[in-house]
Amino acid sequence: MGLFAKFKNTHFISDYRQMWPYIQPYLGRALIAVLITIPIGALDAVIAWALKPYMDVMVLQQQSAQTIWIPLVIIGFSAIQGILTFTATYYNTWVGNRIASDVKISLFEKLLKFDAEYFDANTSGNVIMRFNNDVDAACSGLLSNLKQFCTRFFSSISLIVVLFYNSWQLALIAVAVLLFALFPLTKVRKRIKDINTETVFTNAEIVTHYNEAFGGNRVISANNLYDYENERFDGTLKHVFKLGMKMVQRTGMLSPFMHFVVSLGIALVIWTGSCLIVSGQITAGSFVSFIAALILLYNPIKGIGNSFNNVQVALMAMERVFELLNNEPKICSKPDALPLTEIKGGIEYKNVCFEYVADKPVLQNINLKIKKGETIALVGNSGGGKSTFVSLLPRFYDVTSGQIMIDGTDIRDYTIESLRDNIAVVFQDNFLFSGTIRDNILLGKSNATEEELNHAVEMAFINDFIAKLPKGLDTDIGERGALLSGGQRQRIAIARAFIKNAPIVILDEATSALDNKSEAVVQKAIENLMKDRTVIVIAHRLSTVRHADKIVVVNYGKIVESGTHDELLNKPESIYAALYKAQLK
Ligand SMILES: Nc1ncnc2c1ncn2[C@@H]1O[C@H](COP(=O)(O)OP(=O)(O)O)[C@@H](O)[C@H]1O
Ligand SMILES: [Mg+2]
Repeated sequence: MGLFAKFKNTHFISDYRQMWPYIQPYLGRALIAVLITIPIGALDAVIAWALKPYMDVMVLQQQSAQTIWIPLVIIGFSAIQGILTFTATYYNTWVGNRIASDVKISLFEKLLKFDAEYFDANTSGNVIMRFNNDVDAACSGLLSNLKQFCTRFFSSISLIVVLFYNSWQLALIAVAVLLFALFPLTKVRKRIKDINTETVFTNAEIVTHYNEAFGGNRVISANNLYDYENERFDGTLKHVFKLGMKMVQRTGMLSPFMHFVVSLGIALVIWTGSCLIVSGQITAGSFVSFIAALILLYNPIKGIGNSFNNVQVALMAMERVFELLNNEPKICSKPDALPLTEIKGGIEYKNVCFEYVADKPVLQNINLKIKKGETIALVGNSGGGKSTFVSLLPRFYDVTSGQIMIDGTDIRDYTIESLRDNIAVVFQDNFLFSGTIRDNILLGKSNATEEELNHAVEMAFINDFIAKLPKGLDTDIGERGALLSGGQRQRIAIARAFIKNAPIVILDEATSALDNKSEAVVQKAIENLMKDRTVIVIAHRLSTVRHADKIVVVNYGKIVESGTHDELLNKPESIYAALYKAQLK
């Protein structure tokens, strides 16, 4: 049948092979779950089959004693069928959920290491849909739909056997009609693939809307963005609705069509059957049993269309899941990478060029040497590439061309873990995890001693405010640290960097979001953090970078001047001097 050829056309075989390691641990139960569908399906045929002796012996010959067992058989087999169905559902769910958990664990592990590029290009909704919902659809969904499909398939087969048992002539007619009814199934996949993909991405948009309504609620309230947000949400929902209806348009006719063709078959069979009975070629019992089997075939055949659809949808989800699993992050350690243990010389940017999008250079020919222990300040126009400059050092992105070296070795030759162990980063907006203040500081070094923790707390000036909290360091800070002020969040981030005790510190506008009062205390915390380390600091307020060993002005992706504060101020036509004077006013 075209049905199975269709399987081969898809990536089913290769995906199935990839699925193997996940199925293998549960193989026994998975096999039970699928094999059990054979008797469940086949038992449907018992009722139809039992009607032949019943009709022939009981109704026509009026011999009740010989047929008394038939109702008992039907009851008995239905009971067995019920128990088997329960077992199948149980094992199916068990295996499906186990496999789904395993796949989700692998995917989550993958997700954490995805390149920054991936997060730039995708939304949170997208991630939730593809890493969570798709896995459910691919694992649990595939198994339960496969179970349904197999039950219906075997039920059909066994009923077809009953058809042939009763009358091969009528059975041939019936089977020919069935094949005709099943034919459209071969086209299903092609018809729904694009809609299915689009549906997943649109559902992802919905999740993103919820996330933004949650994360951005202050901005929405402050700017009265209710109508704007509602409209966007409405738009997405309308799109989802349209896609849902399109899906029904393309597949909804499948079951009714099959239903209709099957009734045509029944009509044809009754008509032919009557002739066969009259001419004495089959008994009335055979005919009744035959018709019963044919009518019982209705349900599974009708349902096979739906199950087949659902199996296809699950397989498409599986393809998307494996696409993610097969995605190897571009930024990773080389096989022969060295550990970066101690920094002796310094950092060097050598002819570094970088672009996020091909042919749109963000950094051009950057050359800069930073000696161990030096503090370098980056200033320049907004969007000029300062944040990009520093994000290349921990390899959030890799340079497009040129090299960044630490102690004369390209940073891509060090293991990525050791490289990042040597760098502490404090951003303008630091992500705090839900949990306590203590948890969040210890993220910098999970095995820190109580002494180290206290030192970090002291150096980051957290003491004063945790002293006022009833639970102190063990106070819960809410999702993303929502229960803290900006300055407090910033100091926790600094304590986290402190406890990490990395020799290189990157500060990207760490105080820009703060008011003057919180800025002063955060600035003091930062000064503590900078002591005896190699520091790259980006600051909006030039007064905070006056004491840097070197100030580098990055404008529109290029280094336009560099020197100490005094050198730059005294330089004729200095951009820095102009900026500085403008800020002083
Ligand atoms: N993830 C990104 N993907 C694409 N373009 C980006 C990304 N991040 C920043 N850019 C662009 O790169 C340029 C430099 O940005 P950035 O380094 O953040 O500047 P700065 O920190 O100096 O204000 C800007 O034009 C910005 O729009
Ligand atoms: Mg920036």
